[in-house]
Amino acid sequence: MENKLHLTMPRKHILVTEIENPVGLKVGMIQLNRPDVLNALNIELMKELVETLESFDMDSEIGCMVITGSQKAFAAGADINEMAEASTVEMIKRDQFATWDRIMKIKKPVIASVSGYALGGGCELAMSCDMIFAAEGAKFGQPEINLGIIPGAGGTQRLTRAIGKVRAMEMIITGKMYSAKEMFDAGLLTAVFADDVYLDETIKVAKEISNKPAIAVQLAKECIMKAYNTTIEDGIQFERRNFYLLFSSEDKIEGMKAFIEKRKPVWKNK
Ligand code: CAA
Repeated sequence: MENKLHLTMPRKHILVTEIENPVGLKVGMIQLNRPDVLNALNIELMKELVETLESFDMDSEIGCMVITGSQKAFAAGADINEMAEASTVEMIKRDQFATWDRIMKIKKPVIASVSGYALGGGCELAMSCDMIFAAEGAKFGQPEINLGIIPGAGGTQRLTRAIGKVRAMEMIITGKMYSAKEMFDAGLLTAVFADDVYLDETIKVAKEISNKPAIAVQLAKECIMKAYNTTIEDGIQFERRNFYLLFSSEDKIEGMKAFIEKRKPVWKNK
């Protein structure tokens, strides 16, 4: 594989697979794997997860990534055992969320496929992804308030942007859990599937994305992410420049030619 990063640490807390895709690029799959603690996100797991995302991002054979957990838990939050004795100074020195910030730099789409608990850092990890698919029985919440803290991995910001102030306020200040249906209705989730098919359905979408022209997918993601931190005018200019940029890609020529010739395009991803 081209450009594959060397993983600098063994992957103790995650399972990594590449899903073959006959038509297009492969899907990079990461399964959180700390079943004894409901996939609590300790520092080591997050390092492994982010290194693997970065490795997939550099791999020209991968089109899209999926992060999932187990049937019982996507992730029940940051690892409380790691934080229980920590002081402010230790937390500042640890700077554990710097690892999380690297997720924002991933260029390819990342999908969260959630079953069971997505609480605290688990909900924040799902929100760090580009889309969230959930099983009907999934439960979402930001229960940090019950530990005497607040969300620390972007929850107050991402949740508020996703579902609005009044709902985010209730969710974070009460610490209550919400069903997948409630979170779908609130606008946090892309889709909800039956418990036994949620992962298959997620992979189907991930493959669909992997069948699209990769450069256009990447620039589309970049433009959508830009909408979070710019004015509408600057965002529209940013989109326009990226739109024009794609006119120098081979896939643009192929896509339009194939349409006119009434055939399926063959993407070169360049
Ligand atoms: N950290 C460490 N261990 C955890 C954990 C966490 N976030 N969540 C669950 N576990 C462990 C439990 O301690 C338990 O371990 P033992 O078997 O050794 O006792 C094991 O996972 C199974 O959990 P429960 O026995 O509690 O399972 P349950 O089915 O009765 O309850 C639950 C499930 C409601 C999710 C409950 O485990 C729970 O409330 N977990 C904590 C949720 C939470 O508060 N998350 C926020 C963490 S702080 C955070 O995330 C900060 C941030 O913004 C980054």
